[in-house]
Amino acid sequence: MKQTLLLLPGDGIGPEVTAEAQRICQLVAPDVAIEENLVGGISINTHGVPLTDAALDRARSVDAILLGAVGGPKWADVARDKRPEAGLLGLRKGLDVFANLRPAYCFGALVDASSLKRDRVEGLDIMIVRELTSGVYFGEPRGVETDANGVRRGFDMSVYTAPEVERVTRVALEIARGREGRVCSVDKANVMESGQFWREEVTTVHKTHGDGVELSHMLADACAMELVREPKQFDVILADNLFGDLLSDAAAMLTGSIGMLPSASLGTEGTPGLFEPVHGSAPDIAGQGIANPCAAILSLEMALRWSLARPDAADRIMAAVGRALEAGARTRDLGGDLSTTGMTDAIIDCL
Ligand code: NAD
Ligand code: IPM
Ligand code: MN
Repeated sequence: MKQTLLLLPGDGIGPEVTAEAQRICQLVAPDVAIEENLVGGISINTHGVPLTDAALDRARSVDAILLGAVGGPKWADVARDKRPEAGLLGLRKGLDVFANLRPAYCFGALVDASSLKRDRVEGLDIMIVRELTSGVYFGEPRGVETDANGVRRGFDMSVYTAPEVERVTRVALEIARGREGRVCSVDKANVMESGQFWREEVTTVHKTHGDGVELSHMLADACAMELVREPKQFDVILADNLFGDLLSDAAAMLTGSIGMLPSASLGTEGTPGLFEPVHGSAPDIAGQGIANPCAAILSLEMALRWSLARPDAADRIMAAVGRALEAGARTRDLGGDLSTTGMTDAIIDCL
Protein backbone atom coordinates (compact mmCIF):
# COMPACT_ATOMS: atom_id res chain seq x y z
CA MET A 1 0.00 0.00 0.00
CA LYS A 2 1.14 3.51 -0.79
CA GLN A 3 2.63 5.33 2.20
CA THR A 4 1.51 8.83 3.10
CA LEU A 5 3.55 11.59 4.67
CA LEU A 6 1.49 14.42 6.14
CA LEU A 7 3.18 17.82 6.00
CA LEU A 8 2.18 20.33 8.66
CA PRO A 9 4.29 23.35 7.74
CA GLY A 10 2.92 25.65 10.47
CA ASP A 11 4.21 29.18 10.96
CA GLY A 12 7.22 31.43 10.47
CA ILE A 13 10.11 29.53 8.89
CA GLY A 14 8.10 26.27 9.19
CA PRO A 15 6.74 26.42 5.61
CA GLU A 16 10.14 27.57 4.30
CA VAL A 17 11.99 24.55 5.66
CA THR A 18 9.32 21.88 5.11
CA ALA A 19 9.11 22.91 1.43
CA GLU A 20 12.81 21.96 1.14
CA ALA A 21 12.27 18.64 2.92
CA GLN A 22 9.42 17.96 0.49
CA ARG A 23 11.76 18.52 -2.49
CA ILE A 24 14.19 16.01 -1.02
CA CYS A 25 11.44 13.49 -0.31
CA GLN A 26 10.26 13.62 -3.90
CA LEU A 27 13.80 12.70 -4.97
CA VAL A 28 14.67 9.93 -2.52
CA ALA A 29 11.20 8.40 -2.01
CA PRO A 30 9.11 9.53 -4.98
CA ASP A 31 6.38 6.97 -4.35
CA VAL A 32 5.52 8.38 -0.92
CA ALA A 33 2.31 10.41 -1.22
CA ILE A 34 2.58 13.85 0.37
CA GLU A 35 -0.40 15.72 1.77
CA GLU A 36 -0.62 19.01 3.59
CA ASN A 37 -2.72 20.35 6.42
CA LEU A 38 -2.77 23.25 8.88
CA VAL A 39 -1.49 23.49 12.43
CA GLY A 40 -0.55 26.43 14.67
CA GLY A 41 -1.16 30.09 13.98
CA ILE A 42 -2.14 29.50 10.38
CA SER A 43 -4.86 27.12 11.55
CA ILE A 44 -6.07 29.76 14.04
CA ASN A 45 -6.30 32.28 11.21
CA THR A 46 -8.24 29.88 9.00
CA HIS A 47 -10.32 27.80 11.42
CA GLY A 48 -10.15 29.69 14.73
CA VAL A 49 -8.32 26.85 16.49
CA PRO A 50 -4.65 25.76 16.36
CA LEU A 51 -5.54 22.13 15.55
CA THR A 52 -8.87 20.98 14.14
CA ASP A 53 -10.33 17.57 14.96
CA ALA A 54 -10.18 16.80 11.23
CA ALA A 55 -6.45 17.57 11.06
CA LEU A 56 -5.77 15.39 14.12
CA ASP A 57 -7.88 12.57 12.68
CA ARG A 58 -5.99 12.76 9.41
CA ALA A 59 -2.67 12.76 11.28
CA ARG A 60 -3.72 9.57 13.08
CA SER A 61 -4.32 7.75 9.82
CA VAL A 62 -1.16 8.57 7.81
CA ASP A 63 2.21 6.79 8.04
CA ALA A 64 4.29 9.73 9.27
CA ILE A 65 3.94 13.44 9.94
CA LEU A 66 6.52 16.11 9.23
CA LEU A 67 5.89 19.35 11.07
CA GLY A 68 7.74 22.63 10.49
CA ALA A 69 7.22 24.88 13.51
CA VAL A 70 4.40 26.78 15.16
CA GLY A 71 4.00 30.08 16.96
CA GLY A 72 4.98 33.68 16.65
CA PRO A 73 4.41 37.17 18.04
CA LYS A 74 1.11 37.54 16.11
CA TRP A 75 -0.55 35.08 18.46
CA ALA A 76 1.20 36.11 21.68
CA ASP A 77 -1.97 37.55 23.22
CA VAL A 78 -4.27 34.64 22.42
CA ALA A 79 -5.52 32.57 25.42
CA ARG A 80 -3.08 29.78 26.30
CA ASP A 81 -5.31 26.89 25.24
CA LYS A 82 -5.92 28.56 21.86
CA ARG A 83 -2.30 29.41 21.07
CA PRO A 84 -0.34 27.86 18.21
CA GLU A 85 1.77 25.92 20.74
CA ALA A 86 -1.44 24.34 22.13
CA GLY A 87 -1.98 22.87 18.65
CA LEU A 88 1.41 21.21 18.74
CA LEU A 89 0.86 19.91 22.27
CA GLY A 90 -2.60 18.65 21.23
CA LEU A 91 -1.08 16.84 18.28
CA ARG A 92 1.59 15.17 20.44
CA LYS A 93 -0.99 14.17 23.05
CA GLY A 94 -3.58 13.15 20.46
CA LEU A 95 -1.09 10.88 18.70
CA ASP A 96 0.26 9.68 22.07
CA VAL A 97 3.83 10.06 20.81
CA PHE A 98 5.39 9.78 24.23
CA ALA A 99 9.04 9.21 23.31
CA ASN A 100 10.79 12.18 21.74
CA LEU A 101 14.20 11.31 20.30
CA ARG A 102 16.45 14.32 19.93
CA PRO A 103 19.84 13.34 18.59
CA ALA A 104 22.73 15.77 18.96
CA TYR A 105 25.53 14.77 16.63
CA CYS A 106 28.23 16.94 15.26
CA PHE A 107 28.91 16.64 11.54
CA GLY A 108 32.68 16.53 10.97
CA ALA A 109 32.53 19.65 8.83
CA LEU A 110 30.81 21.63 11.58
CA VAL A 111 33.19 20.95 14.44
CA ASP A 112 34.49 24.50 14.27
CA ALA A 113 30.97 25.98 14.16
CA SER A 114 30.29 24.62 17.65
CA SER A 115 30.35 26.98 20.60
CA LEU A 116 32.77 24.54 22.27
CA LYS A 117 36.36 23.77 21.38
CA ARG A 118 37.06 21.18 18.68
CA ASP A 119 38.24 18.39 20.99
CA ARG A 120 35.06 18.62 23.08
CA VAL A 121 32.68 18.04 20.18
CA GLU A 122 34.58 16.10 17.53
CA GLY A 123 32.68 12.80 17.13
CA LEU A 124 29.89 13.96 19.46
CA ASP A 125 26.84 11.69 19.26
CA ILE A 126 24.23 11.97 21.99
CA MET A 127 20.62 10.80 21.92
CA ILE A 128 18.26 12.64 24.22
CA VAL A 129 15.09 10.69 24.95
CA ARG A 130 12.53 13.17 26.23
CA GLU A 131 9.17 12.13 27.67
CA LEU A 132 6.70 14.13 25.56
CA THR A 133 3.09 13.67 26.61
CA SER A 134 3.03 14.12 30.36
CA GLY A 135 4.80 15.87 33.25
CA VAL A 136 4.42 19.54 34.02
CA TYR A 137 3.39 20.27 30.40
CA PHE A 138 0.08 18.48 30.92
CA GLY A 139 -0.37 18.08 34.69
CA GLU A 140 -3.54 19.27 36.41
CA PRO A 141 -4.38 21.50 38.17
CA ARG A 142 -2.81 24.45 36.42
CA GLY A 143 -3.84 28.04 36.11
CA VAL A 144 -3.64 31.61 37.32
CA GLU A 145 -5.94 32.78 40.09
CA THR A 146 -6.33 35.31 42.84
CA ASP A 147 -6.47 33.89 46.35
CA ALA A 148 -8.69 34.96 49.24
CA ASN A 149 -6.16 37.64 50.22
CA GLY A 150 -6.20 39.13 46.75
CA VAL A 151 -2.75 37.72 45.89
CA ARG A 152 -2.41 36.46 42.33
CA ARG A 153 -0.68 33.14 41.79
CA GLY A 154 0.22 30.93 38.86
CA PHE A 155 0.70 27.17 39.13
CA ASP A 156 1.38 24.02 37.14
CA MET A 157 1.44 20.46 38.36
CA SER A 158 4.39 18.18 37.70
CA VAL A 159 3.07 14.63 37.79
CA TYR A 160 4.08 11.29 36.29
CA THR A 161 2.47 7.89 36.63
CA ALA A 162 4.51 4.69 36.83
CA PRO A 163 3.34 3.44 33.39
CA GLU A 164 4.35 6.75 31.83
CA VAL A 165 7.86 6.55 33.23
CA GLU A 166 8.09 2.89 32.39
CA ARG A 167 7.28 3.18 28.70
CA VAL A 168 9.70 5.99 27.98
CA THR A 169 12.44 4.31 30.03
CA ARG A 170 12.01 1.15 27.98
CA VAL A 171 12.47 3.15 24.78
CA ALA A 172 15.66 4.73 26.16
CA LEU A 173 17.03 1.32 27.19
CA GLU A 174 16.22 -0.16 23.79
CA ILE A 175 17.89 2.70 21.96
CA ALA A 176 20.97 2.46 24.19
CA ARG A 177 21.26 -1.22 23.31
CA GLY A 178 21.79 -0.23 19.67
CA ARG A 179 24.42 2.34 20.70
CA GLU A 180 27.04 2.36 23.45
CA GLY A 181 24.69 0.86 26.03
CA ARG A 182 24.67 3.72 28.54
CA VAL A 183 21.62 5.64 29.79
CA CYS A 184 21.95 8.67 32.03
CA SER A 185 18.59 9.54 33.57
CA VAL A 186 18.09 13.15 34.60
CA ASP A 187 15.88 14.51 37.37
CA LYS A 188 15.73 16.78 40.41
CA ALA A 189 15.35 13.96 42.91
CA ASN A 190 17.05 16.16 45.50
CA VAL A 191 14.20 18.70 45.47
CA MET A 192 11.08 17.32 43.82
CA GLU A 193 8.83 14.48 44.91
CA SER A 194 8.08 13.73 41.27
CA GLY A 195 11.84 13.71 40.66
CA GLN A 196 12.45 11.16 43.41
CA PHE A 197 9.60 9.10 41.98
CA TRP A 198 11.08 9.35 38.46
CA ARG A 199 14.43 8.05 39.72
CA GLU A 200 12.85 5.13 41.62
CA GLU A 201 10.73 4.08 38.65
CA VAL A 202 13.59 4.32 36.15
CA THR A 203 15.73 2.19 38.48
CA THR A 204 12.96 -0.41 38.78
CA VAL A 205 12.42 -0.61 35.02
CA HIS A 206 16.15 -0.95 34.46
CA LYS A 207 16.24 -3.96 36.81
CA THR A 208 13.74 -5.85 34.69
CA HIS A 209 14.39 -4.47 31.18
CA GLY A 210 17.94 -3.17 31.36
CA ASP A 211 19.94 -6.16 30.15
CA GLY A 212 23.26 -4.99 28.76
CA VAL A 213 22.61 -1.34 29.57
CA GLU A 214 24.43 0.66 32.22
CA LEU A 215 22.16 3.14 34.05
CA SER A 216 23.34 6.26 35.85
CA HIS A 217 21.44 9.21 37.34
CA MET A 218 22.32 12.88 37.26
CA LEU A 219 20.66 15.96 38.66
CA ALA A 220 19.31 18.10 35.84
CA ASP A 221 21.28 21.22 36.74
CA ALA A 222 24.52 19.22 36.87
CA CYS A 223 23.62 17.66 33.50
CA ALA A 224 23.27 21.12 31.95
CA MET A 225 26.75 21.90 33.21
CA GLU A 226 28.25 18.57 32.10
CA LEU A 227 26.72 18.99 28.62
CA VAL A 228 28.83 22.07 28.02
CA ARG A 229 31.87 20.78 29.93
CA GLU A 230 32.39 17.24 28.64
CA PRO A 231 29.47 16.36 26.35
CA LYS A 232 31.06 13.21 24.96
CA GLN A 233 30.60 11.44 28.32
CA PHE A 234 26.92 10.94 27.36
CA ASP A 235 25.42 8.24 25.20
CA VAL A 236 21.63 8.33 25.87
CA ILE A 237 20.13 10.97 28.15
CA LEU A 238 16.66 10.16 29.50
CA ALA A 239 14.68 13.14 30.72
CA ASP A 240 11.17 14.23 31.57
CA ASN A 241 9.25 16.63 29.34
CA LEU A 242 10.58 19.89 30.78
CA PHE A 243 14.21 18.94 31.43
CA GLY A 244 14.36 17.24 28.03
CA ASP A 245 13.18 20.45 26.38
CA LEU A 246 15.86 22.56 28.06
CA LEU A 247 18.72 20.10 27.69
CA SER A 248 18.02 19.46 24.01
CA ASP A 249 18.30 23.17 23.16
CA ALA A 250 21.62 23.30 25.03
CA ALA A 251 22.85 20.17 23.23
CA ALA A 252 21.74 21.70 19.91
CA MET A 253 24.25 24.48 20.19
CA LEU A 254 27.11 21.99 20.60
CA THR A 255 26.44 20.81 17.06
CA GLY A 256 26.89 24.21 15.46
CA SER A 257 23.33 25.52 15.21
CA ILE A 258 19.83 24.76 16.36
CA GLY A 259 19.05 24.82 12.64
CA MET A 260 20.75 21.40 12.35
CA LEU A 261 18.74 19.34 14.82
CA PRO A 262 15.86 17.02 13.95
CA SER A 263 13.58 15.05 16.24
CA ALA A 264 11.33 12.03 16.13
CA SER A 265 8.34 11.54 18.41
CA LEU A 266 7.23 7.95 18.61
CA GLY A 267 4.30 6.18 20.18
CA THR A 268 3.33 2.57 20.41
CA GLU A 269 3.93 0.21 17.49
CA GLY A 270 1.71 1.00 14.55
CA THR A 271 1.01 4.66 15.37
CA PRO A 272 2.48 7.27 13.02
CA GLY A 273 5.56 9.10 14.19
CA LEU A 274 5.70 12.88 14.38
CA PHE A 275 8.93 14.36 13.01
CA GLU A 276 9.94 17.96 13.54
CA PRO A 277 12.98 20.19 13.85
CA VAL A 278 13.96 21.05 17.41
CA HIS A 279 13.93 24.74 16.48
CA GLY A 280 10.88 27.00 16.45
CA SER A 281 9.28 29.35 13.95
CA ALA A 282 12.19 31.83 14.20
CA PRO A 283 10.09 34.99 13.73
CA ASP A 284 13.30 37.06 13.61
CA ILE A 285 14.32 35.55 10.25
CA ALA A 286 10.98 34.34 8.86
CA GLY A 287 10.18 35.44 5.30
CA GLN A 288 13.79 36.17 4.40
CA GLY A 289 14.59 32.80 2.84
CA ILE A 290 17.70 32.35 4.99
CA ALA A 291 16.60 29.66 7.47
CA ASN A 292 18.73 26.55 7.65
CA PRO A 293 16.64 23.70 6.15
CA CYS A 294 18.87 20.93 7.55
CA ALA A 295 16.83 20.27 10.72
CA ALA A 296 13.71 19.77 8.60
CA ILE A 297 15.57 17.66 6.03
CA LEU A 298 17.10 15.54 8.79
CA SER A 299 13.63 15.20 10.36
CA LEU A 300 12.53 13.72 7.04
CA GLU A 301 15.55 11.45 7.32
CA MET A 302 14.27 10.27 10.71
CA ALA A 303 10.76 9.78 9.30
CA LEU A 304 12.13 7.56 6.53
CA ARG A 305 14.14 5.57 9.06
CA TRP A 306 11.74 5.28 12.00
CA SER A 307 8.23 5.29 10.48
CA LEU A 308 8.48 4.59 6.76
CA ALA A 309 11.02 1.73 6.96
CA ARG A 310 13.25 3.15 4.22
CA PRO A 311 16.71 3.09 5.73
CA ASP A 312 18.37 3.36 2.31
CA ALA A 313 16.65 6.63 1.49
CA ALA A 314 17.50 7.87 5.00
CA ASP A 315 21.16 6.91 4.57
CA ARG A 316 21.25 8.80 1.26
CA ILE A 317 20.01 11.98 2.92
CA MET A 318 22.42 11.68 5.84
CA ALA A 319 25.38 11.16 3.53
CA ALA A 320 24.34 14.02 1.22
CA VAL A 321 24.00 16.50 4.11
CA GLY A 322 27.46 15.45 5.35
CA ARG A 323 28.99 15.86 1.88
CA ALA A 324 27.34 19.23 1.24
CA LEU A 325 28.73 20.49 4.54
CA GLU A 326 32.17 19.08 3.68
CA ALA A 327 31.98 20.98 0.40
CA GLY A 328 31.46 24.18 2.39
CA ALA A 329 27.70 24.67 2.00
CA ARG A 330 26.51 26.88 4.88
CA THR A 331 23.47 28.97 5.71
CA ARG A 332 23.98 32.13 7.78
CA ASP A 333 23.45 30.53 11.16
CA LEU A 334 26.57 28.46 10.31
CA GLY A 335 28.55 31.46 9.15
CA GLY A 336 27.84 31.03 5.42
CA ASP A 337 25.70 32.96 2.95
CA LEU A 338 23.53 30.34 1.25
CA SER A 339 19.78 30.82 1.16
CA THR A 340 17.38 28.13 2.37
CA THR A 341 16.89 26.97 -1.21
CA GLY A 342 20.61 27.26 -2.02
CA MET A 343 21.49 25.00 0.90
CA THR A 344 18.97 22.41 -0.29
CA ASP A 345 20.34 22.64 -3.84
CA ALA A 346 23.79 21.87 -2.43
CA ILE A 347 22.40 18.82 -0.61
CA ILE A 348 20.56 17.66 -3.73
CA ASP A 349 23.80 17.91 -5.71
CA CYS A 350 25.31 15.44 -3.22
CA LEU A 351 22.46 12.92 -3.19
P1 NAD B 1 13.42 29.55 17.72
O1 NAD B 1 14.02 28.21 17.65
O2 NAD B 1 12.31 29.84 16.80
O3 NAD B 1 14.58 30.63 17.44
C1 NAD B 1 15.72 30.76 18.31
C2 NAD B 1 16.88 31.39 17.50
O4 NAD B 1 17.40 30.40 16.61
C3 NAD B 1 16.45 32.57 16.64
O5 NAD B 1 17.49 33.52 16.62
C4 NAD B 1 16.28 31.95 15.27
O6 NAD B 1 16.50 32.86 14.20
C5 NAD B 1 17.34 30.85 15.27
N1 NAD B 1 16.93 29.72 14.43
C6 NAD B 1 15.98 28.79 14.73
N2 NAD B 1 15.85 27.93 13.73
C7 NAD B 1 16.70 28.31 12.76
C8 NAD B 1 17.02 27.80 11.47
N3 NAD B 1 16.40 26.72 10.96
N4 NAD B 1 17.96 28.46 10.75
C9 NAD B 1 18.59 29.53 11.24
N5 NAD B 1 18.35 30.04 12.46
C10 NAD B 1 17.40 29.45 13.21
O7 NAD B 1 12.97 29.80 19.22
P2 NAD B 1 12.18 31.04 19.88
O8 NAD B 1 12.60 32.31 19.21
O9 NAD B 1 12.36 30.88 21.33
O10 NAD B 1 10.67 30.76 19.55
C11 NAD B 1 9.96 31.35 18.48
C12 NAD B 1 8.56 30.76 18.40
O11 NAD B 1 8.65 29.39 18.02
C13 NAD B 1 7.78 30.77 19.71
O12 NAD B 1 6.43 31.06 19.40
C14 NAD B 1 7.91 29.36 20.25
O13 NAD B 1 6.86 28.97 21.07
C15 NAD B 1 7.93 28.58 18.96
N6 NAD B 1 8.61 27.28 19.03
C16 NAD B 1 8.03 26.29 18.31
C17 NAD B 1 8.64 25.04 18.25
C18 NAD B 1 8.01 23.98 17.45
O14 NAD B 1 7.09 24.26 16.70
N7 NAD B 1 8.43 22.74 17.54
C19 NAD B 1 9.86 24.84 18.90
C20 NAD B 1 10.44 25.89 19.62
C21 NAD B 1 9.79 27.13 19.66
C1 IPM C 1 9.90 22.16 21.40
C2 IPM C 1 9.17 23.44 21.72
C3 IPM C 1 7.80 23.12 22.29
C4 IPM C 1 8.00 22.44 23.64
C5 IPM C 1 6.82 24.30 22.42
C6 IPM C 1 6.73 25.13 21.19
C7 IPM C 1 5.46 23.80 22.82
O1 IPM C 1 9.93 24.24 22.57
O2 IPM C 1 9.39 21.37 20.61
O3 IPM C 1 11.00 21.95 21.93
O4 IPM C 1 8.18 23.13 24.65
O5 IPM C 1 7.97 21.22 23.66
MN1 MN D 1 11.95 23.45 22.97
